[in-house]
Amino acid sequence: MARKTVVTGAEHQGQIPPGAPPTKTAFAFDDPEHDDDLRPSSLSEVVGQRKVVERIQIILEAAQNRGDALGHLLFEGPPGLGKTTLAMVLPKEMNSDFQITSGPTLRAPKDLLPYLTRASEKSILFIDEIHRLPPAVEEFIYPAMEDFRVDIALGEGLNARTVNMTLKPFTIVGATTRSGMLTAPLRDRFVNRAHFDFYEHDELATLLMRNAKKLKTSLTEEAALELAIRSRGTPRKANNLLRWTRDFAQVRNAPSPISEAVTKEALAMIEVDAIGLEEMDRRYLTTLITVFTGGPAGIQAIGHSMNCPPDTLEDEVEPFLLRQGFIQRTPRGRMVTAAAWEHLKIEPLM
Ligand SMILES: Nc1ncnc2c1ncn2[C@@H]1O[C@H](COP(=O)(O)OP(=O)(O)O)[C@@H](O)[C@H]1O
Ligand SMILES: [Mg+2]
Repeated sequence: MARKTVVTGAEHQGQIPPGAPPTKTAFAFDDPEHDDDLRPSSLSEVVGQRKVVERIQIILEAAQNRGDALGHLLFEGPPGLGKTTLAMVLPKEMNSDFQITSGPTLRAPKDLLPYLTRASEKSILFIDEIHRLPPAVEEFIYPAMEDFRVDIALGEGLNARTVNMTLKPFTIVGATTRSGMLTAPLRDRFVNRAHFDFYEHDELATLLMRNAKKLKTSLTEEAALELAIRSRGTPRKANNLLRWTRDFAQVRNAPSPISEAVTKEALAMIEVDAIGLEEMDRRYLTTLITVFTGGPAGIQAIGHSMNCPPDTLEDEVEPFLLRQGFIQRTPRGRMVTAAAWEHLKIEPLM
């Protein structure tokens, strides 16, 4: 069967919330723009995330043996950890078609309908940011997920009627950074749910060595580990820091393979610190410390003080700070911990 991939520019960019103000520094470490050139093209190329990958291997094999479509899959976890990547690998493993769209671009059922009717047997329909599907679209998707059927309302008033349309058995893969925002009925329709976690340093170092080759450059083992340590457990960051380090080394005429010392210099220039905190993270912590005397403070208030959308903070900044033990989320708000004071070398006020 011929494989086709439908990726349209605007929708692909749906990863960035529309209208979000530019909150990043000139060098955007989170930039998803270059994701595609370093994306693994098979499951065997996927580094780390073992638990998720092993489960997917089983689901894949079982479905293939039965000749069925995969059960619908929900991927949840912070940005840049490989949700889109794994979704794109599935159709390659199954030799089936792939379509991609995202919650915010599906404003009404009519926006989703073409994807559903185009979905071929066993194909994957990837819906990014599925927590942002409008309720009307969500309701429209239920019968499609359960019975591979859509109910289309035609006309109004006395002439109104519903037409049923049968779909091919296909698979929806939903991705979300906020599984808590998903409605229970939508959640329940996903047979398989996988939670993506931050990567270990050695996993990222492996990924960096491999991707350095793809980018036609090379790193010493120490340089790769240094980059890994500063990538906040996130492959997208690792890749972007790698690209920056390559550019830096090239312009400075640094010898190949790129050394740990050159890597450190490159990262110092973009103000990524020894554990990977960036300007945004430091600004978050210092705001919490100076404006809110360490907290507790609500995310809305922190967002206002930083002039940054609270959603961005919740999705992109807080997960790593939480995991690092630099902040706590309490019922009364966010609080900074002693570890954060220490890391920033600020004496607590009390
Ligand atoms: N497990 C992985 N193995 C190899 N590369 C990965 C992995 N996870 C992510 N990446 C890389 O990181 C980039 C961002 O991943 P992506 O799947 O777009 O993240 P998400 O969809 O979770 O935000 C991808 O382009 C890919 O190159
Ligand atoms: Mg993605």
